[in-house]
Amino acid sequence: MQKKFSSDRYDPLSTERDALSRRNFIKGVIAAGTVAGAAGLVTGCSDGSDSSGGSAASSVERLITINVNGNSRPVDVLPNETLAQTLRNKLGLTGTKIGCDRGSCGACTVMIDGVTQNSCSILTHTVRGASVVTVEGVGGANGELHPVQQAMIEELAPQCGYCTPGQVVSGVSLLQRNPNPTRDEVRNALAGNLCRCGAYNNYINAIVKAAESA
Ligand code: FES
Ligand code: FES
Repeated sequence: MQKKFSSDRYDPLSTERDALSRRNFIKGVIAAGTVAGAAGLVTGCSDGSDSSGGSAASSVERLITINVNGNSRPVDVLPNETLAQTLRNKLGLTGTKIGCDRGSCGACTVMIDGVTQNSCSILTHTVRGASVVTVEGVGGANGELHPVQQAMIEELAPQCGYCTPGQVVSGVSLLQRNPNPTRDEVRNALAGNLCRCGAYNNYINAIVKAAESA
């Protein structure tokens, strides 16, 4: 009796077609993964700041020019990039520190149009047209220290030093607005700059000394 073939019988042509389509599928997956990985590198998502699946538009860098320490600096920035990130990671101005990264500690303090701001809480693209001054820009043109920096050395103010750039910028900003502050005014001006080493009195002494020596 002739054996009847079932409908799922072995068909060499069909099996070959299946293997080809599986191979194409796997190729497609790997290619897509490669493109996605490359996109992450190009758009700077590797810092984890946009790992929650933000829109493609929010991960595209745009070239802007910002004025930092008196110089026009062209830089590619993401729409959600903070000024602290740009200063440190793209402009090499690592004097600005990042402590809390949420506007609480003052380690990232810079001046924007003369007013102290937490640069971790400012989007870089919003400072176009403004004048940004970091701790690298408070001294003289030939590298002379600002009187606040000199006084901080003399008063041995920095301990670990992590909060120091923020304390310097806050002190310089105060003396620009008020060259003869009282001790309480100095204390208020530094209120947003936390110091884990507890060197508050040293910083206040330094700024009072800088004001007296000016
Ligand atoms: S790092 Fe900006 S306030 Fe703490
Ligand atoms: S000197 Fe260490 S945090 Fe201020």
